[in-house]
Parts: sequence; structure tokens; C-alpha cells
Amino acid sequence: MKGITFKINGAEITAPEGTTVLEAARMHHIDIPTLCYLKGVNQIGACRMCLVEIKGAKALQASCVYPVADGIEVLTNSPRVREARRVNLELILSNHNRECTTCVRSENCELQKLAKDLGVQDIPFEGEKSGHWIDDASPSIVRDETKCILCRRCVAVCRKVQGIGVLGPVGRGFKTQVQPVFNKSIADVGCINCGQCIVNCPVGALKEKSSIQ
Ligand code: FES
Repeated sequence: MKGITFKINGAEITAPEGTTVLEAARMHHIDIPTLCYLKGVNQIGACRMCLVEIKGAKALQASCVYPVADGIEVLTNSPRVREARRVNLELILSNHNRECTTCVRSENCELQKLAKDLGVQDIPFEGEKSGHWIDDASPSIVRDETKCILCRRCVAVCRKVQGIGVLGPVGRGFKTQVQPVFNKSIADVGCINCGQCIVNCPVGALKEKSSIQ
């Protein structure tokens, strides 16, 4: 496969053609934060935590979906990049139930870790929250929309890995939720209770039923 040579943070590196900037950076042990990314399963550029600066491009780019190209120059940790990631994280947190001390995923939460890593201490954005439904009708899985960050990792794993596909984005814009179809409970669709959605959720939006009893 053809090798692509380009620069990350001033250092020249080579990666196979078709590799994304994120994957190339990880091959060379350069850290770029992610939330929605699941290698080979969910590469949709939804969370914007992996933003990087590409020299000559006006807007910051999501590195998880940006393919490497000969001669590009990437900055993964510039002040502009860090500020954009922090504001994105604050926006995600502004629509998230932040009762972390009583959350089963506390200390094992990708969102909480990122907030710490990026130095988020206040959420300047207040207002209505979009998710309200805590669906606990299933015998084994609790789906808590107040904590869902709409990364769609559960959607991709359920459909592409397990071949089931009971979850998907419903609604538009601010009202978007990840749910089974037609407002149904996860107990009333073809969920096989495999738990892969729980394993791949970066936060506490999906959890084992026993864990909250
Ligand atoms: Fe790239 Fe979410 S990890 S947009």
C-alpha cells in the first residue's frame, strides 16, 4: 500500500494511504482525544473532540474522518485546537446529567476523564436539556437519556457488530435521541440483552439493571 508522508506537530511521518489523521497520530503515539470514535465500527465525526488544525484549511477538522494526504501539516495541540475541544466538551456537558457522584460509571467515564484532562471546571452554558426518559423496563439494561451524549457507539455496535440494530437516532436537532423505534422501550424490541451497548457506552447512559438496584 502506498505510503503517505505528511507532518504532525512539525515532525514528518508516514502512514498508509487511506489512514485517517487520528489513526496515523495513534500509530506514532500522538494523543488526540476522542468520544464517538470506535475503530472500524463508528467513525462518524459526531463529537468533535478529535479536532485538529490542518495548515491552509479554514475550519478545524475532525481527525477521525480526515484522511491523510501527501504534504499536509497537522497541529494536534495548538491553542486554537485545545480551546475548540474544551468548548465542545462544555457544550456536551451542558446537556448531560452531571450527577457524577451517584453514577455507576464515575471514575470509569470517558466524559469525566476528558473534562479533567481539558481542565473543564465550569459549564457556562445553561438551559433546557433534551433527554428525559429513563427506560428501565428491560430485565437487564437501563437506558438513561439524561446521560446520553449521542455518540452513537451503541447504535453502531448493536447494528454492525451484533447484527441486531434496535437502537438509532430519533428526531432532529436538539430533540435528537438515541432510542428504539416508535418511542418503544428497549424491552419491547428485538434486544437480545447482549450488553455490548453497555460495554461500548463512554458514559453511564447504558448500564446493567442490577448495578442501580
Ligand atoms: Fe472524531 Fe468524535 S472522535 S468526531
